[in-house]
Amino acid sequence: MKGIILAGGLGSRLFPVTKVTNKHLLPVYDQPMIFYPIQAFVEAGIRDILIVTGGNSAGDFLELLGNGNEFGLNHLNYTYQSGHGGIAEALGLARHFADDDKVCVVLGDNIFHDSLRAAVDNSEKQEKGARIMLKEVADPRRFGVAELRGGRVVNIEEKPSRPKSNLVVTGIYFYDSQAFDIIDTLKPSARNELEVTDLNNRFIEMGQMEYEIMDGWWSDAGTFESLRHVTNLVAEDPPVWVPKKD
Ligand code: G1P
Repeated sequence: MKGIILAGGLGSRLFPVTKVTNKHLLPVYDQPMIFYPIQAFVEAGIRDILIVTGGNSAGDFLELLGNGNEFGLNHLNYTYQSGHGGIAEALGLARHFADDDKVCVVLGDNIFHDSLRAAVDNSEKQEKGARIMLKEVADPRRFGVAELRGGRVVNIEEKPSRPKSNLVVTGIYFYDSQAFDIIDTLKPSARNELEVTDLNNRFIEMGQMEYEIMDGWWSDAGTFESLRHVTNLVAEDPPVWVPKKD
């Protein structure tokens, strides 16, 4: 399985802090945000990693991360997203990197406590399709919200004003290579982006969507409030996959 970290976007909910820099370079407690998904992949045994970035300071990723030696890697792959066409568009840029392998995609502003290892194993065993990680939250309206029936996800609604559940779709996704063909058929949403929720709903329609519920804490870091919250979580109860300092 290969790993893809999506680290583009304007970070407009963090203006003016992200006016000249990329959101994923901001600190979360004692590390730049982008360190977290890389460490989560490495701990889960995913060593072939692509970073899709764009927007401000894209070149700083290369300077900060280099070949990933600090994380025990020999090499990192980079791709540049020139527009702001959304998560599914960013993922579409990874088609050549994926090269028919299964991929785990992590949104670079999603930080969580537990290991990805079990979900990676389950996805490897899955015959085909996609897998999402769900988490119960207090304010589901900020996220993609899953509707469950008979033990299956039957629909995902992006940022609904009246959520059908408290279970939100976290920014950790597993796909087989069908994802890239589906992305080619997606149409831009009202906010003029190719939505990952539209991609996921296609897999649901095809009867090829599995899910797991995340046990440990999870948060995005895309707003000032969530960035403050996740900084405290990392400081108080660090992710199991962050290497211990001496
Ligand atoms: C994105 C997805 C949403 C998901 C969220 C997780 O939202 O569109 O479905 O729940 O990430 O962080 P964004 O925060 O990029 O608008």
